[in-house]
Amino acid sequence: MLNVQKIRKDFPILEKGVIYLDNTASSLTPEPVLQKMLEFYRQYRANVGRGIHSLSQKASAEYELARAKVVDFINAKSETEIIMTRNTTEGINLVANSLNWKKGDKIVTSLIEHHSNFIPWIRLKNKHSVDLEIVKPKEPIVHGLLDPADFERAIDDKTKLVAITHVSNVLGTITPLKEITEIAHEHGAYVLVDGAQSVPHMKVDVRKIKCDFLAFSGHKMCGPTGSSALYIREELIDEVEPLFVGGGTISDVGLDYYTFEKSPMRFEAGTPSVAEAIGFGAAIDYLREIGMENIERHERELTKQMYEGFTGLPKVEVYGPEPECRIGLIAFNVGDLNSHDVALALDVSANIMVRSGHHCALPLTKNIIRKPGSVRASVYLYNTRDEVDKLVSTVGEIAETIAK
Ligand code: ALA
Repeated sequence: MLNVQKIRKDFPILEKGVIYLDNTASSLTPEPVLQKMLEFYRQYRANVGRGIHSLSQKASAEYELARAKVVDFINAKSETEIIMTRNTTEGINLVANSLNWKKGDKIVTSLIEHHSNFIPWIRLKNKHSVDLEIVKPKEPIVHGLLDPADFERAIDDKTKLVAITHVSNVLGTITPLKEITEIAHEHGAYVLVDGAQSVPHMKVDVRKIKCDFLAFSGHKMCGPTGSSALYIREELIDEVEPLFVGGGTISDVGLDYYTFEKSPMRFEAGTPSVAEAIGFGAAIDYLREIGMENIERHERELTKQMYEGFTGLPKVEVYGPEPECRIGLIAFNVGDLNSHDVALALDVSANIMVRSGHHCALPLTKNIIRKPGSVRASVYLYNTRDEVDKLVSTVGEIAETIAK
């Protein structure tokens, strides 16, 4: 069980009475994470991996400790497999632009992807003439549930990569990853998982889901903005060409050659986001102390409450499946109202923060929701049943008073 009232005291923003339900976009940051970053700036502010002096040694040790915490959190094998990035998008683009693509290679993705796990594949299609197949959810399509049988049909021996979200950022659906990964590996394809919406909300174990790449965001899991990670399965490190070259990535340079350092250094050119990475490590400690199973259970309860609340309201249309098949978020529309107007009304009338619009998922929005956008409420460990009640009742008032 979560002690939500105790947890809330760690989040200074909540003292202002704000109801923060935009956790899918970015989470709030707790005091221990802020303190850890301040500790870096106040006590050992220096660059990492470069200096022999004691401040640099301390900063480097803390930076590497944060990486070790990421290793542990997703059950990777070693630090070799973890690249510190700024966001999920950077991790996905690193993979997209660093594998050796040939004409005729195939990429399989899905219709429910975030743009960050969709546009890179269109770009590769245009640039390298790779084939791109987009798997649709099974019927009813509005539930957004992906069926391994459709991946069985789409994945063939030419498939080099299957790029798939773990949890949809609009529908909250959970992808049957293990089954899809098995199919991909039978055909010799790699699997890249967009874990932006799963890793913050449930226990994700890369050795259980057997993915080859996993990109996820520290800033969505109580870490600071600019903190994230990419997992690359150890055996694939040499197949991934570093996206940037420069300081920190090499073991030797001559006038016409260079040799790379081992992973992860070879992927982290230039000064990294040191304070952010150290804060990310503190965020992992924070979440582990509370327990990912407890966080997941709490979110599932709140998601069910939101779903039942919204589906009981006239004029409110909810997208996605039953609460049992989803986690953390609900997207909806209210009558004929524009989603941005609803989001603004929630903010102005009840101090409720939600996202509205296409949620960086236009293929999904155009083909599944079939409206210009939707309103999205997403919960995290600090949200309460009372907040969800307030959200549902305010949406009900909006539906009653201004929607047609
Ligand atoms: N991926 C984030 C969202 O869906 C930004 O809001």
